[in-house]
Amino acid sequence: MQVLHAFVIVCTSSIAFILVQMYLARFITSESENYDACAIAEKDEVSQIVLRDILAIFSQQGIRLVLVDKLALEAISRKNPPGLNLHFLSSQVVTTFATIANLKSPPDLENSLSDLQEVGFRVDILTGPGIILDVRHAHANANIPLHIVAERTGWWLHVVILYDIHGSFLWHGPATGVTTLGFPEDMLQYGSGGREGVLDWFDVRSSKLDDLEIEVPANTSEFLAETANSTFISCNYTRAKEFFDTYNDDTSGEALYFKAKVLQIIRLSKLVLESLEVPFWLSSGTCLGWFRQCDVIPYSKDVDIGVWIKHYHPGIIDAFVAKGFWLHSIFGRVNDSYELSFGYSGVKLDIFFFYEDSRGMWNGGTEFTSGQKYRYDFPKFQLCWTELMGIKVRVPCDTLSYIEANYGDQWFEPIKEWDWNKSPPNARTNGYWPELEWREVIQIFYPEAEDS
Ligand SMILES: *[C@@H]1O[C@H](CO)[C@@H](O)[C@H](O)[C@H]1NC(C)=O
Ligand SMILES: *[C@@H]1O[C@H](CO)[C@@H](O)[C@H](O)[C@H]1NC(C)=O
Ligand SMILES: *[C@@H]1O[C@H](CO)[C@@H](O)[C@H](O)[C@H]1NC(C)=O
Ligand SMILES: *[C@@H]1O[C@H](CO)[C@@H](O)[C@H](O)[C@H]1NC(C)=O
Repeated sequence: MQVLHAFVIVCTSSIAFILVQMYLARFITSESENYDACAIAEKDEVSQIVLRDILAIFSQQGIRLVLVDKLALEAISRKNPPGLNLHFLSSQVVTTFATIANLKSPPDLENSLSDLQEVGFRVDILTGPGIILDVRHAHANANIPLHIVAERTGWWLHVVILYDIHGSFLWHGPATGVTTLGFPEDMLQYGSGGREGVLDWFDVRSSKLDDLEIEVPANTSEFLAETANSTFISCNYTRAKEFFDTYNDDTSGEALYFKAKVLQIIRLSKLVLESLEVPFWLSSGTCLGWFRQCDVIPYSKDVDIGVWIKHYHPGIIDAFVAKGFWLHSIFGRVNDSYELSFGYSGVKLDIFFFYEDSRGMWNGGTEFTSGQKYRYDFPKFQLCWTELMGIKVRVPCDTLSYIEANYGDQWFEPIKEWDWNKSPPNARTNGYWPELEWREVIQIFYPEAEDS
């Protein structure tokens, strides 16, 4: 320990001392070995003292830092030696922490920042508007802290501020302007490319980095998987306002009751499908409602969600039934035009399975009286998170292309008469199911079945 200390002082205090030390060291052992020892000692100094300082500075202001650095968490979840230690963190150019904050009272960072400056950091704080959550009270938190970056001796600290949204998920803003102090943008792990992100609430546990105690997400592998697809797109509340200014909002008891049902069905579907690790997104009318008016379309009659066929799980039907859904119908086969419908307290839930081929993505439809098959084509899309009435759900990232494929460019106008097999511009007939196969590909269970 004494020896290490000596190196620390030599390495950090003055170059002249280092040169003297290295010159003397030649007589003891080889130059390179000593140079390494010096470098390692310096890194220890950076990591042990600086990291301790940082944690102390923030915790004094009531700000808890959780290590969310992807490389560090990968090292923890690998567990094989050397795993995560202070050397690991100090040898990174950037180390990323998160802190959880309240949108209604954003953290006051003044004191922490001046304390950081006192111990030699250059500090920048990125601010911007907060997430907007309600069309009728569309006040964004105009300028809240979103990210903190700080640098000392080439070692960067990035703190991403995760805002609690309704106690149900966490949101972070884009890290726009992060390069001001010279932050290496390609090493930005949260908020890059001007993207917002969301994560589910996560538990933390404490972990020892050598003798330093830090907090990390309790389930590191689950956390890492989530951060890989965390991009968030906001509903366009300006458009929603335009919509409600142009067409009146239906606030009848019947409409409110239907909306409440729809939200309940989306919550339950999320519970069921997430337990099976099946990602889903809002499709058709439910997606249009989100995109156009950040709401549920009150006359839409059903809930539509999409699932990629590669995520098909044979337990889906049983899992919905166990949550109180009726199995209404099964159309098609898992390898072709598969579609499941359920009923839940008078509202229908349609699950469309999407296939991918050279033309893009498509889902199928079946006209049950004739065995006529339909095919609905969409340009290829990826999924992003968004929020519908406080629920964290996915939609196609390029939602406009998806909506236009399905509804044409007049999607802004409310259309109450919509024929599932004739109205969509992307609907094409796709042959017939052979009559011999109908027993298998057209299964209707719910006695009051109408058209699919
Ligand atoms: C972490 O999460 C994964 C995925 O949800 C789960 O399979 C695993 O059991 C969890 N590990 C622990 C230690 O809880
Ligand atoms: C939101 O919608 C408005 C009105 O339709 C449009 O002008 C604007 O470009 C949209 N904003 C974004 C970020 O897409
Ligand atoms: C789907 O599987 C059935 C047999 O279960 C087969 O007859 C049919 O050709 C397959 N369809 C496609 C599109 O691969
Ligand atoms: C997650 O991201 C990967 C890579 O970008 C992508 O292939 C995958 O489809 C995404 N998963 C979801 C559910 O969006």
